[in-house]
Amino acid sequence: MENSRGHVVVLTYSAQGHINPLLQFAKCLASKGLKATFATTPYTAKFITAKGVQVMPISDGFDDGGFRDAPNVADYLESFKTVGSRTLTELILKLNQTSDSPVNCLVYDSLLLWAVDVAKKLDIFSVVLLTNSASVCSLYWQIHRGFLPFPVEKDKVPLTIPGLPPLGLDELPSFLAFPSHNSAYLESIMRIFARLDENDWVFANSFEDLENELAKVLTGLWPVQMVGPMVPSAYVEGPIAGDSDYGGSLWKPSDHYLKWLEEKAPKSVVFVSFGSMADVEIKQIEEIACGLKGSSHHFLWVIKDSEQEKFLAEFLQSNDEMGFGKIVKWCNQLEVLAHKSVGCFMTHCGWNSTLEAVSLGVPMVALPQWSDQPTNAKFIESVWRVGVRAKRDDKMIVTREEIERCVREVMVGEKSDEIRINASKMREQAKRAVCNDGSSDIAINNFVEVLIKGKG
Ligand code: UDX
Repeated sequence: MENSRGHVVVLTYSAQGHINPLLQFAKCLASKGLKATFATTPYTAKFITAKGVQVMPISDGFDDGGFRDAPNVADYLESFKTVGSRTLTELILKLNQTSDSPVNCLVYDSLLLWAVDVAKKLDIFSVVLLTNSASVCSLYWQIHRGFLPFPVEKDKVPLTIPGLPPLGLDELPSFLAFPSHNSAYLESIMRIFARLDENDWVFANSFEDLENELAKVLTGLWPVQMVGPMVPSAYVEGPIAGDSDYGGSLWKPSDHYLKWLEEKAPKSVVFVSFGSMADVEIKQIEEIACGLKGSSHHFLWVIKDSEQEKFLAEFLQSNDEMGFGKIVKWCNQLEVLAHKSVGCFMTHCGWNSTLEAVSLGVPMVALPQWSDQPTNAKFIESVWRVGVRAKRDDKMIVTREEIERCVREVMVGEKSDEIRINASKMREQAKRAVCNDGSSDIAINNFVEVLIKGKG
């Protein structure tokens, strides 16, 4: 490490769905001989321990609690931009004085677009890591380039776009389906795509076999290369020795869930998790709980919100004499997905959760909430055919009957064998992408080679 010639600083946004892929990428670059420094806020830095990577804090203006202390997301992002640009620059200058490998590359999370200006000012390589699927990113990029008419005309859906499946309104990213409800998010996303060409590399956390139609159609047209899945090596037979955890969980996993899983029959448990941010209404929680009960399968459910947890605990007390369900506040999701007792994953289809299930060959019941998730659900059901999507009724609720139908379909229904076979195939493809000379491995090696040679 000390003799390595390239030094990369990897900058993350402080949310779990961003820390995981960025940290995994930093570990991967360190394992390939680069010096890797992970830059994050003081609040988040406390939670990071990653082998081979040094962790350095940069201020977002809220050093005690991070975005939890900010009045709202917009103010937080503005503060991170102003204070972060300065403190990131100072960090890189300091690293240049103290390290025997000067920093020659900044890899940043696509949410922190201001980092490209820091890289330019310091005359180092600039690399953006996109944390959505390449397909979702391609939609934003095509709108930016004027290839895709926008706003989407409601009578023109489903949209037929080369490289993508036909997309109905409820299969588009919510920011595109309902732009007026999400204008601030959409504007900031479009700014990322407007500046894509200013980077030396654009990477997406995906792999070619997963989005192969898109890869074929857009090769040579757009600058994105797929370098994922960013999942610890132990789960995908990747190249990093002893790498069994991302290394940056913001919450401590609850106790005893592995013991509970151990007691269950193989592939008998439904694992339910809606990521680190999804805010599911109590009415919907009740429908899911009743549907799971109706399906007669065991379930392990991650509930972060304490109101929802209280509601579900009471529900279980009065409805679960048989001990079918277990609630946890947080878990090691990869460990659960890899467990032999887990038969399916009921997910909000956040991109990391989707990639993790794909990489571990776990069939899914998709309950997308917003953002990129509806499009990920479309791929799960119709392109990769590794799960089913639960449909909402006219009140926008997924009913208990629909939950029961989907769980049965994936666990024991007519399609379940086909779904399992497809999931196993995807798992093998994920492993192939990250193994020596796999598509993602080659893309990363080419990048590392240039960094080791240096700029200019
Ligand atoms: C969000 C978006 O949903 C996602 O699509 C975007 O691209 C990144 O930010 P989030 O909603 O939190 O993230 O979902 P997801 O992308 O699935 O990330 C959640 C991460 O938390 C996963 O890596 C998962 O392994 C982890 N997790 C979740 C745990 O470790 N334990 C848990 O109990 C639940």
